[in-house]
Amino acid sequence: MDIFHIEGPVQLSGSVTINGSKNASLPIMAAAILAPGKSTLRTVPHLSDISVCGKLLSQLGCKLTREPDGDICIDSTVIDNPVGEYEIVRRMRAGICILGPLLARCGRAEVSMPGGCAIGVRPVDLHLRGLQELGAQIHLKNGYIIAEAPNGLKGKNIFMGGPFGSTVLGTANVLMAATLAKGRTVIESAACEPEIANLANCLNKMGAKIKGIGSPRLIIEGVKELQPTEFEVIPDRIEAGTFMVAAAITASELHLQNCRLDEMMAVVDRLRSIGITIERKDNGCIVAKNGQIKPTDITTQPYPGFPTDLQAQFMALLSLAEGNSVIIEKVFPDRFMHVAELNRMAANLRKEGPAVIVAGVKKLIAAPVMASDLRASAALVLAGLAAEGTTIVSRVYHIDRGYEKIEERLNPLGANIIRQSI
Ligand code: EPU
Repeated sequence: MDIFHIEGPVQLSGSVTINGSKNASLPIMAAAILAPGKSTLRTVPHLSDISVCGKLLSQLGCKLTREPDGDICIDSTVIDNPVGEYEIVRRMRAGICILGPLLARCGRAEVSMPGGCAIGVRPVDLHLRGLQELGAQIHLKNGYIIAEAPNGLKGKNIFMGGPFGSTVLGTANVLMAATLAKGRTVIESAACEPEIANLANCLNKMGAKIKGIGSPRLIIEGVKELQPTEFEVIPDRIEAGTFMVAAAITASELHLQNCRLDEMMAVVDRLRSIGITIERKDNGCIVAKNGQIKPTDITTQPYPGFPTDLQAQFMALLSLAEGNSVIIEKVFPDRFMHVAELNRMAANLRKEGPAVIVAGVKKLIAAPVMASDLRASAALVLAGLAAEGTTIVSRVYHIDRGYEKIEERLNPLGANIIRQSI
């Protein structure tokens, strides 16, 4: 198990290229199931979640190769074991998004129920309801979801909204299944996240007929078959947002390359409101901090609202604001494992139900802290860059799930992070 020693405070400068999106790559890898043959995916990041997804696809019968340039080739000619094992889905909830494509291709799928995780309960009822609407018969057995559609799926108008709004992977599952269903499917209250738009564009390149991409109403005309394709995943907007916070929290200037500001409007809006300048440059932007950080209020929401996946990182940043901020979590109301750890670093955070009152402090002070989930651990690394002294972050494997060798990206910019295997 690795730990980080982070020396702070530091100033950063220079340029960093944002990697391909984890959360776009995972459902797109699952989409390869739908088109027998060899698909090639470009700019897929080297992350442990991607390796786990590759292992899951291999267990189904796919053959995967990783080219030196980073492309992933998925040969889905043979799928002879349509089962998503507990051992894998337990480690990575996104494993659930093989359910829709397997059902559409094989007429049957068995996928382990994912269970809860550090950020909350995370049910899959909307995934299952959507697939049932398409005609699947679904029952649970020994912790597995057994989905069957021996005579194929049939298009329908489906409402996919839930108590917290749309569902990202639920939309991905039903969208993928609907591409091969008979007739027209309309998904109302579909997730509008750029990762879902990227998936839909990939499916269209494979021969699917999807309209309304990027909107809450997806219209899918079912087709008989899909063809394998070559496709490039979008830059990771959450990684980009994390580097923006890195610049802001260290009072630095960074050039982010390969970053789509148009997909980050809520984030850019909040950063500008607290005094950070963000200017477009080339295929990215320059992020710089001028003067004190002002306090602000943030409410996480489905896209195009402020992303829950940047809530923890912004909490670290607002800890150093000149005044009080309020952060309300409306996507995963329990996603606050980082609060106690940031308080160990002398932040002043008070949780009130699904909200946290962030009273700005003058400085953060290094401490040993424990990473609890992917984005919480990113927040601790960011806090460590600004804190006085040596912050020790344990359970670094959480951060490796979603950030490719973060220390090797931050150190050339001026950070001082040492990874130690213990
Ligand atoms: N929900 C339900 N029923 C369902 C599905 C979801 O009630 O059947 C609820 C969830 O409990 C949550 C809300 O709906 O309160 C939204 O969950 P959603 O289904 O959109 O989340 P997800 O698809 O499981 C993806 C990302 C998460 C990201 C969320 C929200 C991937 C692989 N995961 O999860 O990313 O936080 O969307 O944007 O795309 C991360 O990268 O760190 C991460 C957790």
